[in-house]
Amino acid sequence: MAAGPGIELLLERKRDGGALTADELTWLVGGIVDESVTRAQAAAFLAFTFLRGMTDEETVAFTLAMRDSGDVLSWAVDGTVVDKHSTGGVGDKVSLILAPLWAELGYYVPMISGRGLGHTGGTLDKLEAIEGFRTDLEIDELHRVLADVGCFMNGQTGELAPADRILYALRNETSTVPAIPLITASILSKKLAEGLDELSLDVKWGTGAFMKTREDAAALRDMLVAVGNGAGVRTRARLTDMNVPLGHAIGNALEVEEAMACLKGEGPEDLAQLTCELIGRDEAEVARARDLLDRGVAWERWERLVAAHHGDLSAPLRGGGCTRVVVEAPRDLTIGRCDAYELGRAAFVLGAGRRTAAAPVHPGVGLLVHAKPGDSVLRGQPLVTVVHADRGLDEALALVQRAYGLG
Ligand code: URA
Repeated sequence: MAAGPGIELLLERKRDGGALTADELTWLVGGIVDESVTRAQAAAFLAFTFLRGMTDEETVAFTLAMRDSGDVLSWAVDGTVVDKHSTGGVGDKVSLILAPLWAELGYYVPMISGRGLGHTGGTLDKLEAIEGFRTDLEIDELHRVLADVGCFMNGQTGELAPADRILYALRNETSTVPAIPLITASILSKKLAEGLDELSLDVKWGTGAFMKTREDAAALRDMLVAVGNGAGVRTRARLTDMNVPLGHAIGNALEVEEAMACLKGEGPEDLAQLTCELIGRDEAEVARARDLLDRGVAWERWERLVAAHHGDLSAPLRGGGCTRVVVEAPRDLTIGRCDAYELGRAAFVLGAGRRTAAAPVHPGVGLLVHAKPGDSVLRGQPLVTVVHADRGLDEALALVQRAYGLG
């Protein structure tokens, strides 16, 4: 790394509430990646930033420096390149529907996704419930698929924003994760490295979300939109309530099934509408997307997308052979709560999610949520079907009871 301004001076300024310049932040991020800035110094920078915050200019510069710490992709296609990012929720299978539907509207969607961690699912885990589906296509193949199909859904190729990998781990170790400038730079550095023209963000709030209150989520939304636009990508965002799971299915293969029903025009209303609202720049585009979705027009593109990733839709989804247990309403009741976090945890303990990044997931297990807030059910009617295999049934059943306030 080139001789810089002196890390101690930068840390002192940040500690005392001053701002760093774009050049200083670029130097610092470079030093974190090549390890000429020590982990202790990086941790101090995170802690000072957590306590003192960043100006908008600093956040833009920090995000761009993180983006440029690794590969930045670009696509030789004649059209608008778009993607969406969700801050993560329970039952959120929007990406599976959105990519082919957006492509159907004439956009190019190079979707680079991640795996789930904890109680929220990851798009790659869901896709891998499809027999043969590969999420590790090489960059040449991704270029071909994007040009031919209009979208792909893959894991990282090369390394996007390696600075984020290092800083995210340090944030976990130093209790500095929930700082809005750090979250913003973390999310956007990876998305901006995808080479997008436009980005649509779904910022969730509620029990099942990373941000528990609407106010915190709104602050994150505002910062994400300002920094995304400041970094040169047209960025819009909406806030979504994640106190209740999205749709009915939670768990990998179950969510793929629900997403495929939605692509045939037979999906749950909340899922179909949110997908279209994330696609549309305005009401007219939302309505166009909704019309195509309701008529099942994007199904054929989904088939092409799956085939391009070597998936086989004629084979049963992976993880078959699970056992189903139905949780029934103990009395006549109107559902008041159906807590996304408890239900996400229930799917997690059954094996649908992972505790550590390297752990495997079970493709077949999870929950089907039949009753949501506002629904009236009679005694004996199903609330939830628990789909289980080799572990976690008792704990999952207790979590389902808690989710409905029946414990
Ligand atoms: N997701 C990310 O990628 N980074 C964060 O800091 C939080 C959520």
